[in-house]
Amino acid sequence: MFLLFVLSLLFPLASPTPILFSPSSCPQGATQNGNFCYKPVGEPKSWVYAQIDCGSQGGNLASVQNAFDNNFLVGLAKTNFGSPSAFWIGGTSLLNNDSSWSWVDGSKMNYSNWAPGRPRNTDSYDSIQVHVPNGYWYDTPRAANLSYICQLPNNNGSNELCEAGWYYIGATNKCYKAVTNNDSFYNQRSTCLTYGGDLVSIHSQLENFAVGSLALSELNKALNTDQTKASFLIGLRYNFTWSSWYWVDGTNFTYQPNVMSVTGGYYAIINVNSLSVQYPWDVTLSSSKYPAICEGDTFFVKAMKKLLQD
Ligand SMILES: *[C@@H]1O[C@H](CO)[C@@H](O)[C@H](O)[C@H]1NC(C)=O
Ligand SMILES: *[C@@H]1O[C@H](CO)[C@@H](O)[C@H](O)[C@H]1NC(C)=O
Ligand SMILES: *[C@@H]1O[C@H](CO)[C@@H](O)[C@H](O)[C@H]1NC(C)=O
Ligand SMILES: *[C@@H]1O[C@H](CO)[C@@H](O)[C@H](O)[C@H]1NC(C)=O
Ligand SMILES: *[C@@H]1O[C@H](CO)[C@@H](O)[C@H](O)[C@H]1NC(C)=O
Ligand SMILES: *[C@@H]1O[C@H](CO)[C@@H](O)[C@H](O)[C@H]1NC(C)=O
Ligand SMILES: *[C@@H]1O[C@H](CO)[C@@H](O)[C@H](O)[C@H]1NC(C)=O
Repeated sequence: MFLLFVLSLLFPLASPTPILFSPSSCPQGATQNGNFCYKPVGEPKSWVYAQIDCGSQGGNLASVQNAFDNNFLVGLAKTNFGSPSAFWIGGTSLLNNDSSWSWVDGSKMNYSNWAPGRPRNTDSYDSIQVHVPNGYWYDTPRAANLSYICQLPNNNGSNELCEAGWYYIGATNKCYKAVTNNDSFYNQRSTCLTYGGDLVSIHSQLENFAVGSLALSELNKALNTDQTKASFLIGLRYNFTWSSWYWVDGTNFTYQPNVMSVTGGYYAIINVNSLSVQYPWDVTLSSSKYPAICEGDTFFVKAMKKLLQD
């Protein structure tokens, strides 16, 4: 009985081919290195668009944990982008208000390979490019168009961690799904509940950026558009008795990207603008209709919660 339970955790989809253990389950065009698959993309984009592209494939721009990873990425670039050239990785100062560097996948930046004299810590030099000839890192304005390398999970998508149609974000260990039709706060919330989740609650600048980018990319896919801006309902409401905002999923309200005045509405939307990375929130009315972002647990967390209830 217990063995069955353990097996059901390992193979939550009861998939006939347990791809967790197949030697290489990298998505097409990607190469395995350590725990991840790395996909070089030779179509130059700005840092934000490059990250959005990697995000829409269930990953992030690559983070670099050690010199071995750095050499691996430089080798991949040499093979795919030619020489001399440079490419984006997932290092940014944008998510900490330009005050420090971090990886967009949420991992710690405990290794670096800055070129002599870098970083300059000038506000606009906010993203990291790697030079192919020497492997050194240069802080660079995010608007530059460069090739890039995505870091993708080695299971060809996120379906082993999340229900089909949901996307996994490693930095929060949660699953997310965009609801792309327009509807009111109440209807969107009940849609998320029907899907087994709730409207998203957001607790860091990194999560704000990651879920906003994912939602915009999903909306563009669903509508077959290429818009750079869109607004989405999130799970934030105003309580008059408390005179404060609260997350409908019951989590603590600890992070907000900007202070919102409650004149004009008592429900919150996130304004995603792919030309920026700071996605501010705004207020709206219960009758206003928008797409929405749902959040849910991974299979593993669901199984654990069920175990605790039984
Ligand atoms: C990965 O996904 C792509 C597209 O979704 C599919 O074409 C490919 O066959 C998959 N590869 C593996 C190894 O499952
Ligand atoms: C980041 O900077 C903006 C604008 O200067 C400010 O409104 C915001 O509070 C800052 N956020 C953090 C987390 O320091
Ligand atoms: C850096 O931190 C990550 C976790 O964030 C860890 O996986 C990695 O091994 C660390 N690298 C070094 C060189 O300590
Ligand atoms: C990057 O490419 C986009 C799309 O082609 C273009 O609009 C933009 O001006 C380019 N940016 C730079 C800095 O060259
Ligand atoms: C949602 O509303 C916006 C703005 O009114 C509109 O541009 C968009 O096409 C609508 N989306 C759908 C799926 O109807
Ligand atoms: C709003 O605050 C009041 C007073 O503390 C509380 O009793 C009520 O449950 C809150 N409403 C919601 C919807 O959480
Ligand atoms: C929420 O905040 C309260 C009060 O600050 C704290 O006691 C509680 O541990 C927090 N809950 C979580 C899940 O962080």
